[in-house]
Amino acid sequence: MSFQLEIVKWYLDNKRDLPWRDTTDPYVIWLSEIILQQTRVEQGKPYFLKFLENFPNVAAFANASEEQVLKLWQGLGYYSRGRNMLYTARYVMEHYDARFPTSYHELVKLKGVGNYTAAAISSFSSNERQAVVDGNVYRVLARYFGVEEPINSNLGQKMFAELAKELIADQEPSVYNQAIMEFGALQCKPKSPICGECPIQVGCYAFKHKKVDQLPIKLKKVKIRKRWFNYFVSITDDEILTKQRMPGDVWQHLYDFPLIETEGEVSIANDEFRTQIENLFGKRLELRVLESKKHVLTHQIIYVQFFAIDNYIVNFNQHAEIKSVKIEAFKQLPHPKIIGDFIEKHID
Ligand code: ADE
Repeated sequence: MSFQLEIVKWYLDNKRDLPWRDTTDPYVIWLSEIILQQTRVEQGKPYFLKFLENFPNVAAFANASEEQVLKLWQGLGYYSRGRNMLYTARYVMEHYDARFPTSYHELVKLKGVGNYTAAAISSFSSNERQAVVDGNVYRVLARYFGVEEPINSNLGQKMFAELAKELIADQEPSVYNQAIMEFGALQCKPKSPICGECPIQVGCYAFKHKKVDQLPIKLKKVKIRKRWFNYFVSITDDEILTKQRMPGDVWQHLYDFPLIETEGEVSIANDEFRTQIENLFGKRLELRVLESKKHVLTHQIIYVQFFAIDNYIVNFNQHAEIKSVKIEAFKQLPHPKIIGDFIEKHID
């Protein structure tokens, strides 16, 4: 038996009795899908029933006040979703004459409705052949077919979408979509999947290669670090203060200016910042802001402020790593791009 037929057979034997499953009303399906984006099935059920009781159709929903909707939504989080629902209900009244759309291309244009939700509503309500690809589907496909491309890479998204489309080609879209999601939710679970009693164990790549706990692969989003660099540009007649950057941070060995890194944006009026400047240079200085720039690196955003130091600093010897060098020699040194750009613009 094919993968699809096994999945559907399993579904017919094991499916949960869920209140949004015995309808083809696109409004009711929309209601359930938006709520289920936000919560697990068991927690979502009472919300769904409450919404449906208060707003049995899209006209009733559109007539609600924002407070009413947000009150019913209370506890689900991401309140903009509740507000988007009201916007969409009113939009449907106005543009679709109270008939909630059923086609994928119309649904996907609605606020709060993405590819997954449009595929779910169109297939469940009108049997349109659109494959749903949610977290459950990624997991089942990655394990069974051995897709090792990350589910959140561009290539991965394309591969999974294509595979899902191929698989639904000669299935009953509504049943097959429900079936593969339910199979992922109940059988091919993220943790402790029930491989011992799985009807498709024999064909399963991950089971065969002992990779069930490694698939699907998801790229970790690297947290973007924000930093604030405050540079001090001190120029005498023909010399400038420079500093070589140390290993262990961005731009190692390149030459920049004396620097104070802060935890956020600072102004020269900030007392703590003034004290740091005084500690670095050993005396109180007149400063002017020359330029502020944002420099985007792969995993960091650096907000840079350049301050001009107006009075001469002769014999700077507070810090060994800061040196006074001839401006012409300084220009020949290797610099980070942001410093190179600054030199070009401000230092003749
Ligand atoms: N999660 C999201 N949509 C679902 C649905 N229609 N049935 C079960 N779980 C779901």
